[in-house]
Order: sequence, then structure tokens, then C-alpha cells
Amino acid sequence: MTLTPALGIDLTDLDLFTGGDIHAVFARLRRDSPVYWNESGDGGGFWALTRYDDVAAAYNDAARLSSRYGTVLGGSYRRQADSAGGQMLIASDSPRHRLMRRQVHRAFLPGLLERAGEVVRRYLAAALDQAHEAGRADFAEVALELPRGLLAAMFGLGRDEATHLLTLTRRMIGHRDPYYVPEDGSGLALVAAQVEIFDMMSALMAERRRRPGADLVSILVGARLNGRPMTDREILYNCLNVAVGGDETTPFTAAAAVETFMAHPAEFDRLLADPGLVDTALHEIFRWTSTNAYVQRTALTDLRIGGQQIAAGQAVTLWNVSANFDEDAFARPEVFDVGRTLNRHLAFGSGPHRCIGLNAAWLEIRIMLEELIARRLRFTPAGPSRRLRSNFMLGPTSLPVRVQAHG
Ligand code: HEM
Repeated sequence: MTLTPALGIDLTDLDLFTGGDIHAVFARLRRDSPVYWNESGDGGGFWALTRYDDVAAAYNDAARLSSRYGTVLGGSYRRQADSAGGQMLIASDSPRHRLMRRQVHRAFLPGLLERAGEVVRRYLAAALDQAHEAGRADFAEVALELPRGLLAAMFGLGRDEATHLLTLTRRMIGHRDPYYVPEDGSGLALVAAQVEIFDMMSALMAERRRRPGADLVSILVGARLNGRPMTDREILYNCLNVAVGGDETTPFTAAAAVETFMAHPAEFDRLLADPGLVDTALHEIFRWTSTNAYVQRTALTDLRIGGQQIAAGQAVTLWNVSANFDEDAFARPEVFDVGRTLNRHLAFGSGPHRCIGLNAAWLEIRIMLEELIARRLRFTPAGPSRRLRSNFMLGPTSLPVRVQAHG
């Protein structure tokens, strides 16, 4: 096996993502070692793809780079006997993946999304009005109204139940972050949260079998894969996948967007002056924040990427947050430009697993921009912010802001 010279960079070092300059680190990797072998202490490790072209090609090479063994480093399903691999969209390969995706996709069609948009707008508008009146807020908290509204509509839940689901998914994803972890330790917090989500989803399944509605659970209990009903496990795991995907992404993007506008106030002024820039601004926000920093694949066969020999069974990580700042793919990537055109970012991935919630995420952040523009709200920092301690999801868990309407 050809190994790249070790650069002493460890992409599992969470301090790098909470306090370090990750963009400088990725720029160095793209230049000196674009297909990087990241050693782990136990003699193992994983490959890290950091150039746009390599990341895009890997997303579209699903025949050789599998999702079945998990898409998160260390949090994969490979060590579990009772495996979720193959049961849920994100951790399955075709043909099973294609069949399940066709069913789950039915919950992301315009009808349900339109209803979700109304709930999201209602929840967010109330939180923004309250923040405006108080003159200050923690925008990381305000941003939670987005997934709360989306999942309330998508799972047919009331506000309190949606809040409970949100709390559980946050505990799952943030299980290595002291902010979310109760005293009982990280492993337990992860498992306990997952068990509770399954209990909640099982109760919903029973309810929707009795009285079907127009929500995701009703769609899946009525769905057929190759002529057979979806199994309870498939339904549960895919509900979990949508709940986590919905809860753990957009609030970080939303808070990071406000943080970015505070650092680049002239870009917010451009939006206020010309709301026609909302579409390009949305793309730029998704590129700039790159909330889902990477995804993992497992090589099913020996293969070469960028001159490096990758062995069957090895883990390969695809770094969106690096690809989205690749100088060869974007003009002046280090500039935040709400009017940027030719913005083919990879924030939502690419290929067969491309984010199924893309339109929902787009809708949520669009609603946020529209509501901020309508109120002409300007934010300034009101204290130190705090980032999620993760190399997988990037964004603030706390963002104290002062809130004023623009003159
Ligand atoms: C800023 C917001 C979001 C970002 C950056 C994001 C990012 C991504 C990425 C990069 C993938 C590809 C994973 C892979 O290739 O392994 C993905 C897949 C997925 N996302 Fe999102 N996502 C966002 C919002 C959402 C929302 C709102 C939902 C649901 C309501 C969602 C649900 C999913 C699901 C279920 C998958 C798996 C799709 C599949 O494997 O076929 N995501 N997302």
C-alpha cells in the first residue's frame, strides 16, 4: 500500500473543529496530500478525500464505495451484530437503497412540504418577534424552530412532541459533546436516546396503522418494497434517519448563517437592498457553512484515487467542507458572496444518496431569510458563542445576539 507522508494532521481531533483553523488545514491537505491517510492510534486509520473532483467522483462511485457499513467515523454499524446496515437509507446500498428511497421520497413531495413550510414560518415568526421585543436572544435556540416545525408536520406531531423528538436526536448526534450529555456518559446517552426514539416511533406506527394520515409514518406503513410491506425495522430506521437528518442539520446552518452575516454585515445589507439575491444567498450559505462536514464510505474492492492505492475494507471519508472551499472549483472560495454564481457546492452530497431532505432544508433556510428580511433584523454579538464538539456536524450550539430592526 502506498502511504502518504504523515502530515501530523488528525481529522478526528475535535479541537481542530471547535477552535482551530480547519480551512487552513484542509487547504494544506488539498495542496500536499489530497488523498490523505489519517492514522488512528490503534494502527488503523481512514482515507480523507479533500479535493472537489475526488469527493464528487467518490459520491458517484457507489458500486465500489459502500454506505452499508455506516457513514460516520467510529459511529458506524460495522461492530454491531444487530446491524442497521441495509435497513435505513443512509446506511444501505442499491438495489435496496433505491427501493426504500422511492418510498421515503414520497414524504418530500410539494404537498407535505407546503404544509411544513406553514408550520415552520409560524413557529419561527413567533420566536423572531419575541427576540426582537426582548432585544436579545440565543440564535442557536431560535434556529431550533426550523426543525421543530418541519418535523411536527412531517411526523404529524404537536409542538411538545416535536420538541421531545428534537431533544432526543440532539442527544444522539451530540453524544460526544458535554453540552448534551447527561452525567451517565456518552455511550449510554447515545443508546438511551436511540431507544427512546424507537419507542416513540413504534407508538406512532401503531397509531397510524389504526388511523392513517398524510405524514411520513403513514406513508411508510402503507409502502411496499418489491411487492412486500416494509418491515417494522425498516420503517423505524428510516424514520430515525429522517428525524436525525432533519433535526441535526438546518438549525446549525441557520445559526451559522446568522453568525456569518454578523461577520459580513455588508452581505446582509446587499440582501436587504435586493431580496432577489435570496436564491444565490441560499447556495452560498450552504457552501459556506458546510454543516455536514464529511461522510464515510467503505471500499468494497481495491481501488485507486488520486494516485493512492486504497484497499478493500478501508474507510474513505469525503470532506464536503474541504471540497466546498477548493480553489480549483470555486472562484475566490474564501470570500462569502451572497451573489455568487456557478456555485456547484457539495453541501448536500451528490449521487444516489444526495440529501433527500434538500428541498426541506432549502425551504427552512429560505423562510428564515424571508422573515429576517421582512423584519429588517440586524444581529450583533452579545457574548461568546459555542460550537458543537464534533467533526461531523459543524455549527454553534450557542450564539448570543443583540437584535435590532434595521433603519
Ligand atoms: C443544511 C441541511 C442539510 C445538510 C447540509 C444535509 C446533508 C446531507 C448529506 C451530505 C447527505 C448525503 C449522505 C451520504 O451521501 O452518505 C444527506 C443525506 C440525507 N439527508 Fe440531509 N442534509 C440536510 C438537511 C436534511 C433534512 C432537513 C432532512 C430531513 C428532513 C435530511 C435527511 C437526509 C436523509 C434521510 C439522507 C439520506 C439519503 C440517502 O441515503 O438516500 N437532510 N444529507
